[in-house]
Parts: sequence; C-alpha cells; structure tokens
Amino acid sequence: MSEIPVGILGATGMVGQRFVQLLADHPWFKVTSVAASETSAGQTYAEACHWLLSTPMPHAVRDLVVHPVNGVLNCQLVFSALPSHVAGPIEEDLARAGLVVCTNASTHRLDPDVPLLIPEVDAGHTALIETQRRRRGGGGFIVASANCSATQLALALKPLHDAFGLHLVSVVTMQALSGAGYPGVSALDILDNVLPFIAGEEDKLESEPRKLLGKLEDGEITPAPFAISAQCNRVPVRDGHTECVSLQLERQAGVDEVISVLEGFSGPPEVTSLPSSPSRPLLVSCQDDRPQPLRNRNSERGMCVTVGRVRPCPILDFKFVVLGHNTLRGAAGGSIHNAELLVAQGWIT
Ligand SMILES: NC(=O)c1ccc[n+]([C@@H]2O[C@H](COP(=O)([O-])OP(=O)(O)OC[C@H]3O[C@@H](n4cnc5c(N)ncnc54)[C@H](OP(=O)(O)O)[C@@H]3O)[C@@H](O)[C@H]2O)c1
Repeated sequence: MSEIPVGILGATGMVGQRFVQLLADHPWFKVTSVAASETSAGQTYAEACHWLLSTPMPHAVRDLVVHPVNGVLNCQLVFSALPSHVAGPIEEDLARAGLVVCTNASTHRLDPDVPLLIPEVDAGHTALIETQRRRRGGGGFIVASANCSATQLALALKPLHDAFGLHLVSVVTMQALSGAGYPGVSALDILDNVLPFIAGEEDKLESEPRKLLGKLEDGEITPAPFAISAQCNRVPVRDGHTECVSLQLERQAGVDEVISVLEGFSGPPEVTSLPSSPSRPLLVSCQDDRPQPLRNRNSERGMCVTVGRVRPCPILDFKFVVLGHNTLRGAAGGSIHNAELLVAQGWIT
C-alpha cells in the first residue's frame, strides 16, 4: 500500500505533537501538512512549535510550513487536535470538501451521525458513516475519538457490560496535567494541590461511554442503558489518568469471573492486526499498589489500559482502578488507531 497523505490540525499543541511523534514512523500514513492558529501560520513547524516530548522532533516535519486551519491542506485524511470551541465548523468544512476527519475535539462526539470510535469497543459503529454521508453530503466524513477519561473507562467497562450487563457506574478521576493542553494549569494552582473541577469533563464521562457501548440499529445508536456518576479531579501528575470505579452489574458474578472477563478481553479480529493495536487492550494487575501513572502509563506504547485492585464493593458490587495514557490511547494514539480501522474496513482507500 502506498502511504496515505495526512494533515494535523492543532499540530503545535500537546496532542498535535503526539500525532507528529507517532506518525513519524507510521507504516500507512505520512504527514504532509500541519496547521495551527494564526500565530503559528507561516512559520516552519520547528519555528512555531515549542516541542515538549522527550524524543526529538522528527526531521520530516521540521521544515513543513504551518498552514492556517482554514487553508488548503494537501492530504486525504486530517487528524484534528483543535480546541473544541474552534473545531466544529472547520472539521465540517473539511469533511464537506471530501476529507476524512479523525477528531479529538468534543464538538461532534455526540452528533447522532458521527461514530464515536474505539476500535476494540465499537468497530461496527463506523456504519454510521453512511448515515452521515446521506445527511450531510460531501465526499468526506467525521469520526470522533472519545474523551481521554471516557476512553479508558469504556475499555474497562466493555467486557463487563457484554458479560454481565452494567446497571450503575460510579467513577472518580485523578487526571494528569497534560490533559489540560499546553501551557495548561498554572503551577501555582496545581503544585501541592488537587483541583476538584475540570470544566465539561463530568458531562463527557457520564455520556460518552453510554454511546460507545450503545447498540447500532437502523442507522442510529441507542445509548447503553446504565447510569454513570462521575467526579473529575486534576492532580499534579504529568501524563496518565487514574480512575477509581465502582459498579453494579445486572447479573451476579464472582470476583474471579470479573477478573477473568477483563483479562480475556480483546478486540474483534479486524482490529487485532492494526499497526497501533496493543497485543491486548487491557492488562489486569494483581499487585496491591498498581496501577500507577508513573509506572504503568507507557504499557504497550501507551495503548494498553491497566486495571488493578479488582475487589468486592460493600455498596455496589465491585470496585477497581483504571489507568490509561491520556495523550496516547486517550488522544493521538487512539485517533490514529481509528484511522487504521477506517483503512482496514475500506472507508479510506
Ligand atoms: N490533552 C489531552 O490529553 C487531550 C485528550 C483528549 C482530547 N483532547 C482534545 O484535543 C484537542 C487539543 O488539545 P491539546 O491538549 O493538544 O491543546 P493545546 O495544547 O492547547 O493545543 C491546541 C492547538 O490548537 C491550536 N489552536 C488554538 N486555538 C486555535 C484557533 N483559534 N484556530 C486554530 N488553531 C488553534 C494551537 O495552535 P498554536 O500553537 O498556534 O496556538 C495548538 O496547535 C482539544 O480539543 C482537547 O479537548 C486533549
């Protein structure tokens, strides 16, 4: 297969840089365009970008000239890492112009005709693309990645929902600083502190997993019928969101059964061979003091979510801790994984 030319919107930001890093050696995609705000447009990527990652900026992008996001992009597929308040109309225009848009922004996630995609969770939801094309016209389409916290939660909930049915889910998050973008939260607000509010986050966490685990029937998704209560906190961790989850199941199960279902989870066969797929999407730790962001976030190149401390809950049925890398599985890595699925399913040729 010849490499598919791709663009990155918001290429200079926290998630945009992860896209640049991950796409540098990608077997199917080649970065041909980068775009950011008017402040960066017209400069080379090396001039415009304050590079934050520990690997060097890839040579192939250093001299690319940064476009404005409404400029002409020389590509077939666009990864969007734009702030949600600007992403909406820009992504719609690009899709109308015939491009495939894989977005991390929240704007279109709950649109009824936009697949909210995690390959191991709802690969079949890409059928919504037909509905989207019928409703919106234009040759392209939009596919959204879920919120970073919702992604790792949905990966942990999926096998349990399939095996036992979920009734109630309570989740308390401890979210990393990189989740707030760059420069993000002021040091004076977060050092020696925990912030018990992240704007919009609890709504996303209470709605997105229900769409992800919902049923597609007659071109529409019926959200999964369980209720989620979320409390989201920002903590002084660089990367990796930790979530304490308690849940009630529809059907009784023992703790060994729950662990075995989590351990046995894998995506459908069309997903397991994608370049970004981890060898397994969930790793269950039996160590009492895991998962920890510092020690578990990079598991399988940051694409594997770690679940630990699975135990009975005296109020609901079970409780456990979930950890995932927010800018890898929860953002750029997840979006690239989605695009790979679109190629494998023939939506991008
Ligand atoms: N960080 C995470 O862990 C995470 C996880 C999941 C989803 N997301 C979502 O991903 C998106 C990007 O997040 P981020 O953390 O990378 O944010 P960020 O670090 O603030 O980066 C924002 C990017 O968008 C560009 N931009 C800002 N305002 C713009 C405008 N008016 N027009 C055009 N471009 C503009 C910036 O360009 P300049 O450099 O030129 O200003 C920069 O490239 C957001 O929608 C966020 O909610 C983030």
